[in-house]
Amino acid sequence: MSDFSEILLNRRTIRKYSSQPVEKELLDQLLLEGTRSSTTGNMQVYSVIITRDEVKKKELSPLHFNQKMVTEAPVVLTFCADFNRFGKWCRQRSAEPGYDNFLSFMTAAIDALLVAQTLCIAAEARGLGICYLGTTIYTADKIIEVLNLPAGVIPVTTLTIGWPAEIPEQVDRLPLEAVVHEESYHDYSGELIENYYREKESRADSAQFIAENNKETLAQVFTDVRYKKADNIHFSKVLLKVLHDQGFMNQ
Ligand SMILES: Cc1cc2nc3c(=O)[nH]c(=O)nc-3n(C[C@H](O)[C@H](O)[C@H](O)COP(=O)(O)O)c2cc1C
Repeated sequence: MSDFSEILLNRRTIRKYSSQPVEKELLDQLLLEGTRSSTTGNMQVYSVIITRDEVKKKELSPLHFNQKMVTEAPVVLTFCADFNRFGKWCRQRSAEPGYDNFLSFMTAAIDALLVAQTLCIAAEARGLGICYLGTTIYTADKIIEVLNLPAGVIPVTTLTIGWPAEIPEQVDRLPLEAVVHEESYHDYSGELIENYYREKESRADSAQFIAENNKETLAQVFTDVRYKKADNIHFSKVLLKVLHDQGFMNQ
């Protein structure tokens, strides 16, 4: 148990990988373990697309804003919310699927993310390194084309996986009491916000982040540079269209 706790507490995202391949047998084992995750009603409303082919990785790369992990990692996994397979099974068994709605998308997205995260733990427990790519939900419309995803299927996250070629410093977390609420939500006073964010703001890497981005506060790096309102609105519109086009917004 303490080994397992240590694995969880010492983990960090890995963005540089060695040229050592991730063998098929190992990846299959990770997928097997990942798919043991809880799944809504045991429906397994997700699919995982494995990308190892260099040509395919190059096609995906711009859709992940050319983050180098996509072409450098031996394995790229795209996790999809998928009601296509389950819906087909229903129809073949004289059952009418009622899954062309937003709730079903959320159900399938949650299922897909649970598999992804369990697979991450399985991979990290074996010394592999992983990196999530949030860009998947920004460019889902184009990823759908590249990976040939039919109606009822939407990519929700991507993982790059490989043997680490770096051991980066662990980044911070807020103190536990900042994110945990006893029994009901306790809203944050200005003073609590000060207390909870003080350590993060006083870190050398935060100061460097602020300077590099020419900003006055760390929060401005998020609002003005990394996760801007205009981008959020734009990519929300793209994603809502994807939901519509893939048949999840009919009710
Ligand atoms: C949903 C999600 C999307 C992410 N997207 C990216 C990404 O596009 N590029 C990247 O380098 N890291 C990405 N990350 C990794 C985070 O930056 C990282 O988890 C966070 O900075 C904390 O670092 P740690 O995982 O080393 O503790 C993502 C993480 C999550 C959970």
